[in-house]
Amino acid sequence: DWTPEHILEVMTREVRERVGDERVLLAISGGVDSSTLGLLLNRAIGERLTAVFVDHGLLRAGEAEEVERALRGVGVNLTVVDAAERFLGALTGVADPEEKRKIIGREFIEVFNGVVRDKQAEVGHIRFLAQGTLYPDVIESSGGHGAANIKSHHNVGGLPEDLRFELLEPFRTLFKDEVRELATLLGLPPHLAQRHPFPGPGLAIRCLGPVTRERLAVLRRVDDIFVSALREFGLYDETWQALAVLTPLRSVGVMGDARTYTNTVALRAVTSVDGMTADWARLPHDFLATVSSRIVNSVPEVNRVVYDITSKPPGTIEWE
Ligand code: XMP
Repeated sequence: DWTPEHILEVMTREVRERVGDERVLLAISGGVDSSTLGLLLNRAIGERLTAVFVDHGLLRAGEAEEVERALRGVGVNLTVVDAAERFLGALTGVADPEEKRKIIGREFIEVFNGVVRDKQAEVGHIRFLAQGTLYPDVIESSGGHGAANIKSHHNVGGLPEDLRFELLEPFRTLFKDEVRELATLLGLPPHLAQRHPFPGPGLAIRCLGPVTRERLAVLRRVDDIFVSALREFGLYDETWQALAVLTPLRSVGVMGDARTYTNTVALRAVTSVDGMTADWARLPHDFLATVSSRIVNSVPEVNRVVYDITSKPPGTIEWE
């Protein structure tokens, strides 16, 4: 029977058999999937895992530090690269969603390649590249059905020729909830194990229009207020994903005696089982009222908050 314990045992054995005495490289994104994979590989092959966390500067408040602490805490051999300057530089003036993804994917591979070259010089040849690809990623990127390839998920496919690694994707048959159970078994802190999915391109695809340091800072504050409030009100685990979007819209408002003309943010929270379809979360009105007033009262760059009531399909979960 397929209990999480059983899945863990089988997976550990399969990884050991396939990897043998070779080395494995893993890119940690900060999300549940790659973090859990880091723990699984650490358990299966220990020191022969090289885990690299490229911080692209598009993560949420406190996220990079949290992931670093959790993984190092259980002994994962983790290398952290702060590449924020480089990613933000490459994204300057870029507003098109797919263009953002392409740039982020390309920069990621370049930074990653650089680190890998250094690592190989240090530890010797690395044969495998592990990825936390899940079953829904495989389906959505396969091109096999109508909804496929709407967005290029850069964690599946698209790797250049010079990345000559054999792919290791132990989670290819798993759904998110199964990965979370593994995460808990492997000792990832509950806070991280239960964390909502977060896209590889990060806040870049939630910052509509060109991404700037200033706009990212505003988005980070709004996101943090929204997500912290969900936790505070016990609503976090009931939602599959919750996010804030900084729109390019400005609208007129009033603050004291003065007219304001600033940013509109959208909040989106959805329920889903696998992210392939989703419904907007019926969050209590009182909760939304609290969040809205916290946002406009503490983030001066925002004077209007809207709540997204679109299901997927026809909407996607992310706005870009
Ligand atoms: P959408 O917006 O297509 O998202 O309904 C479905 C799920 O995928 C995540 N997502 C991404 N993940 N790279 C990723 O790694 C991407 O480019 C990307 N785009 C969307 C999204 O957050 C949701 O969980």
